[in-house]
Amino acid sequence: MSSGITPVLRDKLIVALDVSSPEEASDLVARLGDSVSFYKIGLELAFGGGLPLAERLAGAGKKVFLDLKLHDIATTVERAAAQVARLGATYLTVHAFPQTMAAAKQGVGDSGLLILGVTVMTSYDDQDLKAAGYLFGVRHLVERRALQARQAEIGGLILSAEELPAIRELVGPDLRLVTPGIRPAGSSVGDQKRVMTPANALRAGADHLVIGRPITRAADPRAVADAILAEMAGA
Ligand code: C5P
Repeated sequence: MSSGITPVLRDKLIVALDVSSPEEASDLVARLGDSVSFYKIGLELAFGGGLPLAERLAGAGKKVFLDLKLHDIATTVERAAAQVARLGATYLTVHAFPQTMAAAKQGVGDSGLLILGVTVMTSYDDQDLKAAGYLFGVRHLVERRALQARQAEIGGLILSAEELPAIRELVGPDLRLVTPGIRPAGSSVGDQKRVMTPANALRAGADHLVIGRPITRAADPRAVADAILAEMAGA
């Protein structure tokens, strides 16, 4: 085994399967082989037949993050979360409203599925929140919801890399902090605006890094994943 790449370190890298069909996703998973142990399935793939794939991946020993961003009345969230819990995934996202987080936690029970709260979408700025009728700006709302997530005793939070140090200090060590917007030095930023390297994000307190296109669109995805893991091992 190459230096420092333990199973625990490998689980810190979550590859976003942002493709439209289970066939494309399965092909990527096969190409990544043993290098990658954790996959994120979002709305596009979930609605394109990705839920049976999630179940298959979990059955084959991979970890799965279902990024479904649930938000509805408490009963519906609770019952939906209970259904998701049967797929064998590790993480499920919900929007970080107190009722929604509490209902999702109730729904998953002791299945082992952990709920991650999405605080404020990073595509929103202060003006967007004001237009939607919120009294708080982004930073204040992210902090408030992070504390509410801790109070709801959910598993963790999705947040941008630049929020990591402040939120880690606010919520303490128990919540898992999961961050997208990661770019290895030298790779294309794409439509991400605020990016951090894998090593810096780990140093800033991330438990998991979600990385999509730098790996999935590479000519040799496995080689890129291995290089990222080597960088993470050195952090
Ligand atoms: O391809 P890339 O590495 O930018 O993919 C990042 C993944 O994380 C995508 O699945 C994207 O939907 C998700 N994400 C994000 N920024 C957020 C929240 C989620 O890029 N603020």
